[in-house]
Amino acid sequence: MNNKKNKLLIYGATGYTGKIIAARAKELNINFEIAGRETNKTRKLAEELAVGYHIFEVDTEDAWKKTLQDKTVLINAAGPFQFTASQAMKACLKAGVHYLDISAELDTYRMAQSLDSEARKAGIQLISGAGLFVSYDALVIHLSKLVSEPEYLKVGFRHYGGFSKGSVLSSKNIADLGILVRKNGAIVNNPEPKSKIFSFGKEEVECMPTPLGGIILSYKSTGIPNIEEFFSLKLPATELPDLTSKNLPDGPTSEERAAGRNGISAELTGKDGKVVKAYVDAPSGYDLTPLSVLAVASRILNNDFKVGYQSPGSAYGEDILKDIPDTYLVDTK
Ligand SMILES: NC(=O)c1ccc[n+]([C@@H]2O[C@H](COP(=O)([O-])OP(=O)(O)OC[C@H]3O[C@@H](n4cnc5c(N)ncnc54)[C@H](OP(=O)(O)O)[C@@H]3O)[C@@H](O)[C@H]2O)c1
Repeated sequence: MNNKKNKLLIYGATGYTGKIIAARAKELNINFEIAGRETNKTRKLAEELAVGYHIFEVDTEDAWKKTLQDKTVLINAAGPFQFTASQAMKACLKAGVHYLDISAELDTYRMAQSLDSEARKAGIQLISGAGLFVSYDALVIHLSKLVSEPEYLKVGFRHYGGFSKGSVLSSKNIADLGILVRKNGAIVNNPEPKSKIFSFGKEEVECMPTPLGGIILSYKSTGIPNIEEFFSLKLPATELPDLTSKNLPDGPTSEERAAGRNGISAELTGKDGKVVKAYVDAPSGYDLTPLSVLAVASRILNNDFKVGYQSPGSAYGEDILKDIPDTYLVDTK
């Protein structure tokens, strides 16, 4: 594949998260264009950013072909990804363009996994879940190096900042899956889910059992056979908005995002019973995702990638953490 094109495409750039990704790409002086299915919003954003733009529906193969011909990497920010990932991944395979998305949907991780041999043939790196899970996965890899045979991983994710409309829509198909965990290498339902207290530095927080990306992504990165995940939400406002309302705001304002931080806390037990713990302190979710996916895209634009289906950690290890601004890993006891 041609790595000299050195150009990024952001599809779904007019969404709440896509706009923050595009603004960050501009800040980083990345050579990029945007795309989306809606003419006015896409053109307006392209004018504001002074970048090229393309308007097409996600299943228009010819438009993907034309748009991707001078690109190196795609960031798909158009979620729910159950409706966009397959088309965008296939377009990237055909065009020989690296694929990244910010999905939190387990099915798109499985889809990427199933396209491994095609991605190898096309010479592309395929990562579904290159948003919040970049630092999560780096943390798990860090811990996995501290015990000789990692056996049981428990991760608590404390999200700050509420949800965007797009995340609320996508969360429906995540919730439908039930409480999935990885047990002895297989993904199974947890029949007796229980909450757990995690430490995030000065704060101890009760987190509820919730399947996140690690049961697929961190399993790919480390092969840890038993993984349980937990989630806790902290809102800038005192009350949870009505998530079923048609009048939900697009997402938290930049002030709301800046008022708190995300935390990812993990405990890993080795076969010999040794327990190691650490946490990541990071900007709140909708700031962390753009910083993370652009850290990965920048690596690719600098010719740093591994072909085939990858997780953030299998491609970059814990080293990628240093590319994510204002994000710190702290070892604890
Ligand atoms: N795990 C993470 O790191 C993370 C973090 C943030 C967000 N996310 C996920 O990212 C996704 C987007 O979130 P958001 O906050 O940006 O949502 P949003 O504000 O609703 O934006 C969604 C964007 O995707 C486009 N889109 C949706 N369905 C499409 C389709 N079928 N074909 C073409 N374009 C489509 C929308 O275009 P229109 O405007 O034309 O509808 C819009 O540009 C969600 O799935 C969310 O869960 C994940």
